[in-house]
Formats: sequence, structure tokens, C-alpha cells
Amino acid sequence: MKEEPRFSREHWSSRLTFVLASAGSAVGLGNIWKFPYITGNNGGGMFVLVYLACIVCVAVPLLVCEMLIGARGQANAVQAFENIHGPRSPWRFLGMLALLGVFLILSFYSVVGGWVLEFLTLATTGRFVHTDPQAVGGMLEKSWADPARQVAWLFAFITLNAVVIAGGFKRGLERANAVLMPALVIILLLLLVHAALLPGIGAALAFLFWPDASRLTAGGVLDALGHSFFTLNIAAAVHITYSSHLTDTKSLGRSALAIALFDTVIALLAGIVIFAIAFSFGMETGVGPTLIFRTLPVLFANMTLGWLVSVLFFLLVAFAALTSSLSMFEALVCHATETCAMGRKTATLTVAAAAFPLGIASALSTNVLSEWTLRGKTAFALLDWVTTNLFLPAGGVGMALFVGWVMGPKAVVLILGERLGQSLWGRAFLWLLRLPAPAAVCAVWIRGLMG
Ligand code: PHE
Repeated sequence: MKEEPRFSREHWSSRLTFVLASAGSAVGLGNIWKFPYITGNNGGGMFVLVYLACIVCVAVPLLVCEMLIGARGQANAVQAFENIHGPRSPWRFLGMLALLGVFLILSFYSVVGGWVLEFLTLATTGRFVHTDPQAVGGMLEKSWADPARQVAWLFAFITLNAVVIAGGFKRGLERANAVLMPALVIILLLLLVHAALLPGIGAALAFLFWPDASRLTAGGVLDALGHSFFTLNIAAAVHITYSSHLTDTKSLGRSALAIALFDTVIALLAGIVIFAIAFSFGMETGVGPTLIFRTLPVLFANMTLGWLVSVLFFLLVAFAALTSSLSMFEALVCHATETCAMGRKTATLTVAAAAFPLGIASALSTNVLSEWTLRGKTAFALLDWVTTNLFLPAGGVGMALFVGWVMGPKAVVLILGERLGQSLWGRAFLWLLRLPAPAAVCAVWIRGLMG
């Protein structure tokens, strides 16, 4: 095992900035937009339970492995494997898979980022005050039907990312994170208080937390596993990249736990609020990607200072989306600058210029390309499904095997510390990575893909 880092790198100013940036990357549209709607699609409670189990048993162990690879590798997602295992190590393909995955995710994620920006402007102009549920549903559909508008908002979101990275505002944004993330929690709590007063709160809690096995399919289990990876960015090159700017491997486990806990709390809070609204106003829960855009405005319309809250909410969601998409950019740009000897600005422009055309396919999925489907999925749904349910779990299996078999017991000691790492717990962790974790992912795959 080769260990010397190859690049002299910039380092995080403190452990806290690293944790905040990683949490900012993990918390995003996946928590607020995606988690509620896939929970709705998959019938609630049982899905949530399986999702939580996947977070604890698979995603968190992999998160810490990925951080270790970054901290030891001290390089971008591809080079990190070579720095640890030797030049041209075949494990570098794992890094390439992760980079391809995160690039595909960036393309459709930016489309949803565009919807959030559009809703932010609608909120600022007071469009959600005094509206009825029907009108709100119509707003989104009107926007979806307009290809030029969809592409324009996609362009706006990608440009915003490129400007932040190329303009060197990233550091500032990371610092802003320290304020904005707690602000997101506060506004979610505020919404929760309002949602708790709605008549549908009991039904919402029962829906989310009462497991009913008959409502979950094998495909749903795969969705839960895939989403646990998506929400924590497992095997998406981001954690390797971010951790490569650490100077040591200290307290990775604690950092990973903090990130996962924060991420899960945000998703559950969003879920409770959204389902309380849905059940109170007799809305359908399985409407798919439009769920938050239909439900939340109804709450804003029915609360005092609804205008202000709606603006703040969409602003914070836009920031959460931005800190996630920026991390995707960062992983790709870091690789391009280190291995293709590109300047940062050129690399940023290249990533933006490549993601935009691919994003158009997703942006047009709700209008001109809505008939272009494969197994009933539009380009947008397909990109989401393939990356979440295939790319990320495949990368996760690879990383578990890499850390478990290649880095071996030494890796466990680095993660858990000398005493715990050499105890029975350490052994159990090592073997979890070597066998049960990869096997569980494969089993879920096989069942889920067979339908
Ligand atoms: N985890 C982010 C979210 O929940 C999405 C993401 C995926 C970010 C992959 C980076 C890499 O929104």
C-alpha cells in the first residue's frame, strides 16, 4: 500500500468547516424534494424504516470509508485510489464511475434547482398568498409545459454555480453555510409548528412512521437503498474530494455520524410537514416530483406572514441545492485540474458547458420529450433512477471491497481508533465491509431489478 500524498493541497481551516461543507453537500434537494415524494410513491412507513436501516447499516459505514479514501489519497476521486494502491491501480475505475455518476446527477439536479429558483421568484412576487391548492398545482404544470422556460431556469441554475466557483465565492458560500443551514432547520421547525396544528398531522405521522409491509415492493426497497446513497452522496466522488483536503484521518467516524444525523433530521422534518399538508387538504401523496411544489405553497397561503415565510423557505432551499450542486462541480473540477492540467476557470466552464446540454434532455422531459420514454421513464426519471439505483450502489460496493480487502484492518484502526479498531467491534466493522454490506446491496439489486 503506497501512502505518500502526491499533491500539496489546500487544507480546510478547521474540522468544523469540513463537516459543514460536507453536510451542506449532503443536505439538498434530496432531503426536501426527493425524500418526501419517493416516500409518497412507496406508501410511507415501511419505506421510511427500510431507508433508515440502509442509512445506518450501509450508507454511514460507506460514508466513513469514502472519507478515509479521500484523507489517505489526498487527491481527486481517481488519483486518490492510485495514491493509495499504486499507479494505474484498477481501483481507479471506481473513481471514474463516481465522476460519471455525479456528472449525470448534476444534469438533472440542475433542472430541479431551476424549479426552485422559479418558485423563489414566484414567492417574492407574492404568488402563494391567497391561492387555492388547485391554482398552485396549475402553476407548476404551466411552467413544465413551457420548454423555453424550463431550459432558461436550467441555464440560470448552472450559470449561478459556474459564477460562484469561477468567481471564487465558494469560500464565502461555505462560510454562509454555517448560518444558512441552521436557518433551514429553524424555518422547517416553524413550518412544523404550523403543520402540527393542521388536522392531518396524525395521519401524516401514521403514514410516515407506521410500517405496513404490504405497501412496499422490492422496487421500493431498491429505491430506499438508492436514496440512502443519494442523500449522503455515497460513491459520488464528493466525499473523496472534500476529505482529500484534510490533513489527517482523525475523528472521521464522528464527522460521518454528525452529517448523517443532520441529513436524516432534515429529511424527516420535511416529510412530516409535507404529508401533514397533503392529508389536511385531501391531496394525493403519490404524485411524484411535484409533491413539495403543490403542498408547501398551500401552507404558506394559510399562515400569517406567509409571504415572508415562502420567500425565506425557497431561498434556503435554493441555497441547500446550490451547496450540493457546487460540491458536484467541485469533484469534477478538482479532477479536471489535477489530471488534465486545466485551469480552474476553464475546468468550471467545461463542466458547465457539458452539463447544460445533457440537462436540456431532462428539462424537456415534462414537455416536448415527454413521450420519449424507456420502460415508462422519461430522460429525467431515467437519469435519476440509473444514477441513484445503479451507479451509486455499484460504487458503494466497490468502495466497501476496496477498504475491506485492500486497505484492510489498518483502515479500520484509522477509522475507529487504535482501541476500538482492534476490538471485536473493529473486526465486525471490517467484515461488514468485506461481505454483508456488498452482499446486501447485491441482493436488493437482484430483487429490485427483477421487479
Ligand atoms: N445529497 C444531495 C442531496 O440530497 C445530492 C448529491 C448527490 C450531492 C451526489 C452531491 C453528490 O440533495
